[in-house]
Amino acid sequence: MKKIKLHDKEFKLLVESAAIDLAITGLAQRLNSDLKDEQPLFLSVLNGSFMFTSDLLKQINIPGTEVSFIKIASYSGTCSSGTVRELIGFNKNIEGRTIVILEDMIDSGRSMAYLLDLLQARKPKKIYVTAMFYKPQALKCKIPVDYYALSLKNDFVVGRGLDYDDLGRNLPDLYILDNGEEKA
Ligand code: IMP
Ligand code: MG
Repeated sequence: MKKIKLHDKEFKLLVESAAIDLAITGLAQRLNSDLKDEQPLFLSVLNGSFMFTSDLLKQINIPGTEVSFIKIASYSGTCSSGTVRELIGFNKNIEGRTIVILEDMIDSGRSMAYLLDLLQARKPKKIYVTAMFYKPQALKCKIPVDYYALSLKNDFVVGRGLDYDDLGRNLPDLYILDNGEEKA
């Protein structure tokens, strides 16, 4: 079993890179078909979505596709703080546009709820919420999750853009916190 150590914590392999790639390819195919006439603007939420955005967008072939990056933050350590900070420097006119938000992970949904409010105020035609990973059991805010690549249980994970106190984002596989016991 592949294991890694980040700061003080041990993590073990949860999902191999190839399985994540496959799920992202499936997601790209769905988006290519569903949004083919929409000239979508993909809005990648930094930092965690950088790898997802790159992996996904290489497989998007919709005419008029655009990509922009936005930044918010709501997390420190392994437990969601429940507070969401400000949206950093996003001045693009999105009125009438079809927006596809790209998130690394939807956990409580608080950051997404905040982001949706901010973006809706700018009168886009439609916003699709798209996540690489989604923890349905962790959801605390009522938000639409239109597309996701993989759903996960309510556990803390790292890799593939997701970090534990800034470490682990570069890992191609996804790892789960290893507390020494096997879960059923
Ligand atoms: P939410 O607002 O609780 O949905 O949190 C969303 C953000 O928290 C994600 O975009 C991630 O950056 C981060 N996050 C949520 N779950 C995890 C995790 O298991 N590992 C690392 N970061 C996470
Ligand atoms: Mg994030």
